[in-house]
Amino acid sequence: MSERYTTHEYDVLIIGAGGAGLRAAIEAASVGDSVGVVCKSLLGKAHTVMAEGGMAASMGNVDERDDWKVHFADTMRGGQYLNNCNMAEHHAKEAADRVHELEEWGALFDRTHDGKILQRNFGGHKYPRLAHVGDRTGLEMIRTLQDHGIHQGLDFHMEVTIFHFFCEGNRVVGALAYEREKGRFLLFKAKAIVIATGGYGRAFKITSNSWEYTGDGQTLAYDAGADLLDMEFVQFHPTGMVWPPSVRGILVTEGVRGEGGILTNSEGNRFMFEDVPPLYQSSTADNEEEGWRYVTGDKEASRPPELLTRDHVARKIVKEVKEGRGSEHGGAYLDIAWIKEHIKDSESHIKKKLPSMYHQFKELAGVDITKEKMEVGPTTHYAMGGIRVDADTQMSTVDGLFACGECAAGLHGANRLGGNSLSDLLVFGKRAGEYAAKFAEGLDSFSEIDSDEVNRLVEEALKPVDRTEGENPYLIQQELQETMQDLAGIWRSEVGLKEAIDRIRGYAERAKHAHAPGNREYNPGWHTALDLHNLLTVSEALCLSAEQRTESRGGHYREEFPAKSEEGSTYNTVVRKARDGSMEVERVPVVPQSDEMKVIIGANE
Ligand code: FUM
Repeated sequence: MSERYTTHEYDVLIIGAGGAGLRAAIEAASVGDSVGVVCKSLLGKAHTVMAEGGMAASMGNVDERDDWKVHFADTMRGGQYLNNCNMAEHHAKEAADRVHELEEWGALFDRTHDGKILQRNFGGHKYPRLAHVGDRTGLEMIRTLQDHGIHQGLDFHMEVTIFHFFCEGNRVVGALAYEREKGRFLLFKAKAIVIATGGYGRAFKITSNSWEYTGDGQTLAYDAGADLLDMEFVQFHPTGMVWPPSVRGILVTEGVRGEGGILTNSEGNRFMFEDVPPLYQSSTADNEEEGWRYVTGDKEASRPPELLTRDHVARKIVKEVKEGRGSEHGGAYLDIAWIKEHIKDSESHIKKKLPSMYHQFKELAGVDITKEKMEVGPTTHYAMGGIRVDADTQMSTVDGLFACGECAAGLHGANRLGGNSLSDLLVFGKRAGEYAAKFAEGLDSFSEIDSDEVNRLVEEALKPVDRTEGENPYLIQQELQETMQDLAGIWRSEVGLKEAIDRIRGYAERAKHAHAPGNREYNPGWHTALDLHNLLTVSEALCLSAEQRTESRGGHYREEFPAKSEEGSTYNTVVRKARDGSMEVERVPVVPQSDEMKVIIGANE
């Protein structure tokens, strides 16, 4: 049979062109490796841009008491101690260097009056720690990395989706992909592969993620034999847009609350005060020159209750709605306009600090946030769970297969602190690129990949287009999203999760007969039919992991077990493919903390 694909060879193949993928690519190219970067959509359109409010790094520019130890302790507490502590240490120690490096490459951060990088408050961070560019920090990061990367000789393949990995024993040796535009197939031979494909928010109905985020990297790794870790932990960002329906789920940055925004219910009450430590309850607002800060007289308590961790705030909003005190369209009110009581020219202040939010609400909802309240509610934003990796090298349990950024797990434990994702992308993107390049160096040549096998996989992938009848893939996807939203979202129960698992397995059967009429040229129905395998795989992994965790912790809440359990703090959840092809779940002990780490955490309780 003649070949139905074109072949490319790279020392290191990077899948994903968000912050993590680009940073990994730059690092691998810096040692002279040939590097290919594949991205599912256009360059610049990554979920990284949805981390709007900033990048956490303990530079101490706004509060000199900050250092890596406090950042480390905050990250561990935020993750409810299920984090891989070695990753949390690398992250806290290296984040500031990565921010400065980004600045050297051209990123233009907001400044303090004395010219340092300005840092803002964010949920769960003890001190103002988020280096930011208004509310467009992720965008600035992508712009800078692209500008820098373009000069490193990277080869980009845009609108290309990888759907299969080839392995030799337990080592990955290549990947198969299709082009969205023409439907042509590409074979990539590689000595090392870095997955940086982001999360799987698209498994849910309400999400800040765009269409690309269907769990591709996690599924490719799982199918190749890699372990997935902590898939039950999903972050529901408390503030997504809720109205109008067409924009439901679009992110409203935590930066709004970081700049002084408050949450109220339909009765006008600041409900976040209800069950927060007394420490916060005497907070009053004050205006400091460098921006908006809350003070209590005690600097330790400079965070308002709206900046408790995201899991907590999201559940409180849902509670208000359930108890009949929600906003008009089923959320809560978020008010930044109120700062006019304390800031002279509050309108220009808001427009300067939150330019994207101003335009987003004005254009999409007809709301002027300098004068009116926003309506917000939880939106699926981020996956803490993902590919299990080594803390130093970012290599998965498959040789030569690395992962970084949102698709990798470990750093954030049960709940990620806002702002820790942009620094995660840079710290671990760099490490993944460095170690992938080292791995590639150890290999003399590319492995052979059997062309009959490639042709067979091409034929299999074309089945949704080739068959003449079958199920509409969009309907299966829609049913899955509704199931996950209702049964595996913010509130979970055993009955609900079991029902979800049954339904997911039913959808998987139906997906085998998905039909996408038309041909393979720019056929989104076909792409959706192929994405279904990924969405269904991560959804099943999530539900099985959630079913066995009989406690509530971070981004996982079980109605029957509303508290944390002692046992729950001792293990992480691993999902892998069993020999018979079924999904197996195992508990593995949490990575032990060193004595020094215990002291640091103790000192920062
Ligand atoms: O709210 C935000 O700006 C999101 C930041 C993040 O997810 O890190």
